[in-house]
Amino acid sequence: MKRDIHERIRFFRSFLANPRQVGAILPTSRRAVRDMLDMANFTRARCVVELGAGTGVYTEEIVARLHPEAYFLAFEVDPELVATLDGRFEDPRVRIINDSAENVGKYLDGAKVDVIVSGLPFTSLPEPVKRNIFEQITRVLAPDGVMVAIQYSTMVQRDLSRIFASVRRRVSPLNVPPAFLFRCSAALPQEAPER
Ligand SMILES: C[S@@+](CC[C@H](N)C(=O)[O-])C[C@H]1O[C@@H](n2cnc3c(N)ncnc32)[C@H](O)[C@@H]1O
Repeated sequence: MKRDIHERIRFFRSFLANPRQVGAILPTSRRAVRDMLDMANFTRARCVVELGAGTGVYTEEIVARLHPEAYFLAFEVDPELVATLDGRFEDPRVRIINDSAENVGKYLDGAKVDVIVSGLPFTSLPEPVKRNIFEQITRVLAPDGVMVAIQYSTMVQRDLSRIFASVRRRVSPLNVPPAFLFRCSAALPQEAPER
């Protein structure tokens, strides 16, 4: 409980410092976390990636669902938020990475990802960053892989439909604010953006 409050304060401070990058004033509610992770199959997944881990509300629940032989990379770009995750997961399957989701491929050694869990605020990220991340996602996701993503509007759905053959959506009304949960599969190849 005390840790929860401390993490909410830390999260809010990061929001004040970088509102467009953080994209929400509070971490996602546990209910929405569970609802979204239920949209992916972790029993078969051997490589799982989280984008925008924040204070670790998804990270914790992903670790609880992770297959014993799986490995899990969690990316968070804000060093202050990474500090809330460091040392918390004493688990050899888990690696917390303080880098942008734009660089996921660099850490995978050519492996393909079975499940991507995204908390990234796609609609408020700079357009080139968003494009780079989408390009990475389509490049690293396994052909039968799945991305689940939380958003606070449906604006990103057009982008998602352009890069995935299948996009499903549900609402998590009890989250603050109410959230849209997306399940995307069958990624379509994208042209690499100019670097
Ligand atoms: C809406 S918050 C979600 C945090 C957490 N997943 C949750 O649900 O509470 C978005 C997170 O994405 C992180 N983020 C933004 N851009 C990023 C990037 N390019 N690479 C990695 N993380 C990024 C932010 O710092 C922030 O922690």
